[in-house]
This record gives sequence, C-alpha cells and structure tokens, in this order.
Amino acid sequence: MIKLPLTVLFALFLLINSFHVESWANPSGDPKNSSGIPPKSATDYIHSVIEAGRTIYSEVIVERLGVTIDLKATENWKEENTLPLPAQFLLLSSTTSNAKDIGMDYRLMSLWPISEKNGPKTKFEKIGLEEILKSPDKPFTKVVTIQGKPFFKAIYPDLAVTKACINCHNHHPKSPKKDFKMGDVMGGISILLPLNSQGANTKEEDYRIPAEVVADYIHSILESDRQVYSKHVVNRLQEKNIVYASENWWEDNALLLPAQFLLNASDLIINKNIDLDFKLISSWPINKHNGPANEFERKGLKNVVRHPVRPFIEYREIGGRKYFQAVYPDFAVSPACVSCHNDHPNSPKKDFKLNDVMGGIVMTLPLQ
Ligand code: HEC
Ligand code: HEC
Repeated sequence: MIKLPLTVLFALFLLINSFHVESWANPSGDPKNSSGIPPKSATDYIHSVIEAGRTIYSEVIVERLGVTIDLKATENWKEENTLPLPAQFLLLSSTTSNAKDIGMDYRLMSLWPISEKNGPKTKFEKIGLEEILKSPDKPFTKVVTIQGKPFFKAIYPDLAVTKACINCHNHHPKSPKKDFKMGDVMGGISILLPLNSQGANTKEEDYRIPAEVVADYIHSILESDRQVYSKHVVNRLQEKNIVYASENWWEDNALLLPAQFLLNASDLIINKNIDLDFKLISSWPINKHNGPANEFERKGLKNVVRHPVRPFIEYREIGGRKYFQAVYPDFAVSPACVSCHNDHPNSPKKDFKLNDVMGGIVMTLPLQ
C-alpha cells in the first residue's frame, strides 16, 4: 500500500525544480485569470480526494481488520463496538465538512437509498442521478442558480465495485432495490460549489474558481476524514479496548495513526497521476521523510508557525507548468498528539504543547 519511491521521486522532482522557480501570478478578482481552476477540474480533484479517503478506509481499515482480527464494519457500529461502514464514514465526513460552511457541500446519495435522507432532495438531483445511470463513465455537471446565485453542481457515479456492495444492499430490509449487479451505478456523490456572480452566464467555461478556494475545499475534506477517523474509529475503539492505533499498524494488526491515514491517502492520489498532491510535513518530523523537501516547504512551515490563521501560499512554475501551492498549519488538537510526539524516540522536538502548530499539510494544485 505504501509506495514510498513515488513519493520520494515527486519530492525530488519538486526539489530539483525549485531552483528555477519563479513566482508568476497573484490571484486577482478576474474570474478568467489563469490562476483560477475550471469548475469541472475542481470537482474532479475534490472527488478524487473523497474517493481516496473512502478507499483507504475500506481497504486498509475495514477489509484488513475484518480478516486479521475479525473486526467487522456494521451499520449499528456505535452499539456493536464495530467499525462504521464505508458509506457511513463518507457520510460522517461530509457532514463534518459541510458544517464548516466554507461554501462547498458534498454528499452520497441514491435513487434507491437505504436511508431516506440519502435520496435526491431536488428535481435536479433526481435528473442528475438518472443521467449517470445512462452514462456512468462521466459525472453529470451543470451550472445551477440557487436563490439567485450561480453554483456548479457535479454528480459522480458510485459503482458497485465489490460483491459486498450488492450483497449488503440487495439484502438490506430498508433497501428499495434488491437486484443490484456488479458494476451497477448504485448512487452518486454530489458536489456543490459556489461560483462568482457575473451576470447571466450559464456555461461552465465562463467560470473559474480561485485555486486558493479549491485548496481550502480539499483541505476541509482531508481534515474531516482525519477528524472522523480519530474520533469515531481510533479514540472510540481504543477507549473500549477493542483495537489500538499503532505506528507499526501492519505488523501489529492495528489501526493506522491518523497521520498515516492521511499519508496513505496522499500516496494513493500521487499514484493516480492527476497532478494533485498533498502530504503532511513538519520541521520536527518523527519520520525524516516528512521533513520539508524544498525552500517553499521550509518557508511555509516557518510561516504557519508564526501566522497560523491562513495557509502560506505561492503560485509557481515547475517544469513549464503552473502550480498553486499552499501549506496549511497542522495543530496539536488533542493531548494525544502532544504526548505521542514528545515521547517518541525519533521526535526531534520534545516540548510540544496543546494547540501548537506541529507541522503542516502541503498541497499542490496544477493550473491550466
Ligand atoms: C454491510 C452493508 C453495506 C455495504 C457492504 C455497503 N453498503 Fe452502501 N450503505 C449501507 C447502509 C446501511 C447505508 C445507509 C447509511 C446511512 O445513511 O446511515 C448505505 C448507503 C449507501 C449509499 C447512499 C444511499 C443509501 O443507500 O442510503 C450509497 C450510494 C451506497 N451505500 C453505495 C455502496 C457501494 C458502492 C458499496 C460498495 C463499495 C456499498 N454501498 C457497500 C450498507 C452497505
Ligand atoms: C500514537 C502516536 C501519535 C499520535 C497520537 C499522533 N502522532 Fe503524529 N505522527 C506519529 C508518527 C509515528 C508519525 C510518523 C508517521 C510516518 O510517516 O510513518 C507522525 C507524523 C506526524 C506528522 C508529520 C511529521 C512527522 O512527525 O513525521 C505530523 C505533522 C503529525 N504527526 C501531527 C500530529 C497531530 C496534529 C496529531 C494529533 C491530531 C498527531 N500527530 C497524533 C505519531 C503520532
């Protein structure tokens, strides 16, 4: 699962190229400014990050622990002291992210929902779900107007990729559909993004979303996944003495540390070659591999320690392509962050305090 060499290669690539980097643009109000990202590319990135979190959770947590220590994922996970289902993990994470009110809204839905709340809420959502049934190879996208303001809405098909998907849904007493087959579209992931008002434009091509805003959306998903994973998986199951998170999760048949969850999702994204990249770094890394890889990352980490309110950002050109990069502060949000890092034999810093900036999430987004 961990494919270190690729990550190393990418880090090296950035390092080598950072010697002839030039800052070339500042974000401006102009929506067609080249520092903006077309809405469809933005939702493609967002969708990949949502999928990466779900895949790591399904494969590395649910499937592995189901086999190795017989820890199952069940619908009533709270009462049964089990793992939440992957759909529930995604739903918890989307609820967490949507509650932050940063503009983006996403959720999992279906024309045949087990849980009524996951049904289409508008006529448009129903049409979108019907469209992806007809063309499951691409998302359904459209510029829509909500209360006089333009939004970009995309619905990505959610496919029955394993037998477990169809077995569980077909046999579930609350499922209105009992004949799902492998490869079927079972539902969709809907993503809604606000657009800048600019008259009566209805074409996708007329809009750009500032890279900084897209980075904030992606950061929100990463944070929400990690929050849900820490709270509803790691902390809950540790308190009940059911399973522990361990750095050597593979050998120990244990849960991944929250940092490792994010790092694994990052490896998955890098291997998809969509040119989007994120990772967790620190000036005081336990794992040397997570140290700053270039001048931008070093500067970014120093900056977010001093000004932890907004991310440190830069527009740059690497190998002829334009990129937006941001370093977001990563805070010691719980005493466990502090004690584990301070006590870890490989940690170069032993005096972290609660709410300190312990490191940062670096994100790289390609621009057109
Ligand atoms: C062990 C049972 C189980 C498995 C396996 C499972 N699901 Fe679900 N799924 C559920 C339940 C229960 C819900 C409702 C969760 C809620 O909202 O509380 C759900 C929700 C969903 C939804 C949202 C609409 C709805 O039905 O409420 C979609 C779409 C979905 N699942 C697709 C999938 C896909 C695709 C897979 C395989 C990758 C899968 N499910 C695997 C039980 C399962
Ligand atoms: C039980 C121990 C443990 C806990 C709890 C823990 N970490 Fe870590 N953390 C680690 C280990 C081990 C690594 C190195 C993971 C790797 O790369 O394999 C790491 C990596 C990191 C990194 C990347 C830099 C580095 O040190 O390698 C950051 C940043 C980080 N953790 C922040 C946090 C924050 C914030 C929390 C709390 C929300 C937290 N950690 C909780 C053990 C822990």
